[in-house]
Amino acid sequence: MVRRIAVLTSGGDSPGMNAAVRAVIRAGLYQGIEMFVIFDGYKGLVEGDIRQVTKEFTQDIINRGGTILRSSRLPEFKDEEVQLKAIERLRDLDIDALIGIGGDGTYRGLLDIARHGYPVIGIPGSIDNDVASTDYTIGFMTALNTICDCVDKIKDTSSSHQRCSLIEVMGRHCGDLAVYSSIAEAAELTITYDHPYDEEHIFKKLRKLKAQKKSHAIVIVSENLLNCHDLAKKIEDKTGFDTNVEILGHLQRGGAPCAFDRILASRMGAKAVECLINGEYGKVIGSIKEEIVAIDIEEALAMKRDIHEKLLSLINMLQ
Ligand code: ADP
Ligand code: F6P
Repeated sequence: MVRRIAVLTSGGDSPGMNAAVRAVIRAGLYQGIEMFVIFDGYKGLVEGDIRQVTKEFTQDIINRGGTILRSSRLPEFKDEEVQLKAIERLRDLDIDALIGIGGDGTYRGLLDIARHGYPVIGIPGSIDNDVASTDYTIGFMTALNTICDCVDKIKDTSSSHQRCSLIEVMGRHCGDLAVYSSIAEAAELTITYDHPYDEEHIFKKLRKLKAQKKSHAIVIVSENLLNCHDLAKKIEDKTGFDTNVEILGHLQRGGAPCAFDRILASRMGAKAVECLINGEYGKVIGSIKEEIVAIDIEEALAMKRDIHEKLLSLINMLQ
């Protein structure tokens, strides 16, 4: 039986993490469970930065971006000794279970903790949408909306000057932000992991647009794939398009979560607590076809993301 639960956020922050923290705390308190928060992710866990909280802690946070629990990256968490220290911190406070909100890396940390026999649950929080065990991660939809706001603005000025804009979006090694934003923004070209690019095709298409006097050319590029500045220079040389590069960067991670992310986070947070109450440990929460489900962590980490064939065909058809 769980009497005390702690929650942390880890890895890259994402809009909606606060809504998930709120849901976890409130769902726990509602069931008479004592709730604890851990600051700075696994780093705070190892250092013992843990505090008991009441409902007041969760007031006015559902709409706040970032994570009020703060986040960190702690590579040393791969060491067994560090993991055992973390578990000891939890046991010292009689905390029976840990809920971690983050991406795949955070899940791997949770799996290691679970392997030492300590109860854990993971909730997917990341703007990248790179967690295979859920259709959507908390924060993806907000980041997508932010990208669209930015591209709309870039398009205004690109059109005024008949420019080509190479816009690099985040995603680590996942192309979802690029694919979805390309559709929403009617990008002229998309360069991402599942949508291989061929320089000659890019130049040909841009030369054609230039000849047609198209007012702008928006090219969405996934990060970590190529050097946008080098490609921009080649585009200028080969097509005559005045080309600028916009690396959207960390602004994609900020801002108030959209309604979709607040609701997703609330449902997932409540489900995480429900699992622990039912004695279901070592799981991660996902949203699959609108159902909130719990999947074994190891199984979840072994899952491969499907390539969005239908969305890629749509891009090819509409570009
Ligand atoms: P995300 O959770 O967003 O994928 P990271 O990959 O940075 O972000 O992972 C967050 C943290 O999870 C890391 O800083 C580290 O503390 C922990 N972590 C990542 N990979 C592992 C692993 N293989 N074993 C144990 N802990 C890990
Ligand atoms: O995982 C979220 C993410 O924003 C990725 O899209 C990006 O590659 C990475 O984190 C950036 O990490 P950092 O905050 O360490 O710059």
